[in-house]
Amino acid sequence: MKTKVICPGSFDPVTLGHVDIITRASKMFDSVVVGVLNNPAKNSSFTTEERMELLRKATAGLQNIEIVEFDGLLADYTRERGITAIVKGLRAVSDFEYEFQQALFNKKLNPELETIFLTSNTEFMYLSSSGVKQVASLGGDISSFVPECVHDEILKRLK
Ligand code: PNS
Repeated sequence: MKTKVICPGSFDPVTLGHVDIITRASKMFDSVVVGVLNNPAKNSSFTTEERMELLRKATAGLQNIEIVEFDGLLADYTRERGITAIVKGLRAVSDFEYEFQQALFNKKLNPELETIFLTSNTEFMYLSSSGVKQVASLGGDISSFVPECVHDEILKRLK
């Protein structure tokens, strides 16, 4: 059976940590859906389409990737799409409690759905989209946080 998994997130904006998890998932599974949360209630810095476009560019070298937007429950979306597992990165113990709770909610809502955690690369353990936004807005250098091909685009928006 072919395995289709999802890497869900806000990706506001994509970081090198996200790309690392997506790349590793793409080597482990037949196909990887990168699900960009479309939540108008969330005050995002980039529109859903912009976040998707940045992801498309950042993962252009990967063959088995599909970038999609989703709204509503992830448990419902995965059921509709025949996705068997959620793949998420865990950076530190501080991520664990939130992610564990989400995984249990998702399991309850869709018992067929598994959640798989990949440990963050040590290089990216501290990295977050909100951190990138703060550094950029205060004039700092974000070149070691975001993919080179989308660096200028991200910086232009956040400066
Ligand atoms: O990058 P983020 O913001 O940590 O991603 C969070 C995301 C999108 C994975 C999570 O908020 C999500 O799955 N939202 C959809 C609503 C849902 O299904 N929630 C889980 C049950 S409470």
